[in-house]
Order: sequence, then C-alpha cells, then structure tokens
Amino acid sequence: MSRPLIIAPSILSADFASLGDEVRAVDEAGADWIHLDVMDGHFVPNITFGPPVVKAIRGASKKIFDCHLMIAPCDPYLAAFADAGADIITVHAEAGPHLDRSLQAIRALGKKAGVSINPGTPESAIEPVLDRVDLILLMTVNPGFGGQAFISAVVDKIARVKSLVGNRPIDIEVDGGITPETAPLVTAAGANVLVAGSAVFKGGTRDSYAANIGAIRAAGVKARGKAAA
Ligand code: DX5
Ligand code: ZN
Repeated sequence: MSRPLIIAPSILSADFASLGDEVRAVDEAGADWIHLDVMDGHFVPNITFGPPVVKAIRGASKKIFDCHLMIAPCDPYLAAFADAGADIITVHAEAGPHLDRSLQAIRALGKKAGVSINPGTPESAIEPVLDRVDLILLMTVNPGFGGQAFISAVVDKIARVKSLVGNRPIDIEVDGGITPETAPLVTAAGANVLVAGSAVFKGGTRDSYAANIGAIRAAGVKARGKAAA
C-alpha cells in the first residue's frame, strides 16, 4: 500500500516578520505538514531559529510540525524541540557519531524519528537504522538555503532507498528545489513527502500559497498515477 502524498511547506521562505500569520496562512492554503528548518551556522553555513520560535508558532497550526535539524551536535537539543511542539524530529546522519542513539532518544521523547542525508552521502549510511526511523529525508540540495537548484543525481538514490525501505512504514521525504516541474521526478522514484519553500511562498498571499501547493500536489499525483500504471 503506497503512503499518502504529503506537501510540507518550508517556512524558511516565509516572511519571518510575521511567522505565526504565515504558518496560519499556509495551513489554511492546504499544507499537510509544516516543515521547520533549524540551522546552527556550524553544520550548515546559515543560522535560522531554535526551540523558542517553534514554541511561539506552535499555536498557529495543529498540523504536524516536521522539524529538520541541521545542527551538530543534536542530542543536547532534542528534548527542547520535543517540548516546543515538534511532532517529527529529523537529524542528519552526518551530524555526529551516535546516530542510532539520537534516533532512540527521539522516540523515547514520544516523537517520530527521522534521518536525513546530504546529496553527497550514500544511502548505506542509513541502512543500519532503518528500524529506528519513521522518516527518511533525502536532501535534493546541499542544506543551508532556500531557492537553490534541484540536484537531479539524487533521483536514483530515492529509488534505491525506496527498495531498501521495502514494506516498512517509513515516509520518504525530499527537500530542496521541489517545484511542479521536479515533483514528478521524485514521486515517480518513490518519495511521498515533498518539502517546498520558495515554490510555495512565492506570491506572498494565502491564495497564491494555495495555488502553489495545488500545482505541486497535482504534479505529484499525476506522476504517481503514471508510475503505478
Ligand atoms: C534547505 C532546507 C530546505 C529549504 C527548501 O537546507 O532544508 O527545507 O528551505 O527550500 P526550497 O524549496 O526553496 O529549495
Ligand atoms: Zn528542510
């Protein structure tokens, strides 16, 4: 049974001056999840926000908060993100030496655990922890910024991870450069969660967010239909 197609707007491309309103707007515009990019200026060359901001916007939406931690180390902060209201906490396999322990710690906090790998990291890095995760996030750009070009070399990796996952109840998420043009490539390869920042928030109104989300979803559904046929 294929997993549902999920659109998760990344608020990295939202207007930070009114983040709560933007989360409310994209929720009403049809987002399935809200993707939160946490950057520490160390693991990635950019700094965004931490648990206090997650807590501050938690009241703006009941949708799943999909927390993407681009921080190293991550273990000292897992409980704070859980307390702040994250529903899924994803750590990078490249962030430290104790991936298995980090994933166990996330689940012990009662949250869903995700693992992410950068475009240059082979899927063998996540094979040992397949039974520790609820989500695998395959970066389709090098993390750190929104608005970057999609790295098409990752498409084959998605297909390989899809077969590695087999029948396990694991979501396969992609992140970076997802648009109505690239969404068919990743869904046909097996991804079911599509993160999109600049492609969703362009236009700056709730109506444009709804149209943008609708276009990405339609492109994904169509590609899935073709792949299943
Ligand atoms: C990048 C982040 C992404 C980013 C996606 O490191 O993890 O979530 O915001 O933005 P777009 O969709 O504009 O590439
Ligand atoms: Zn992200």
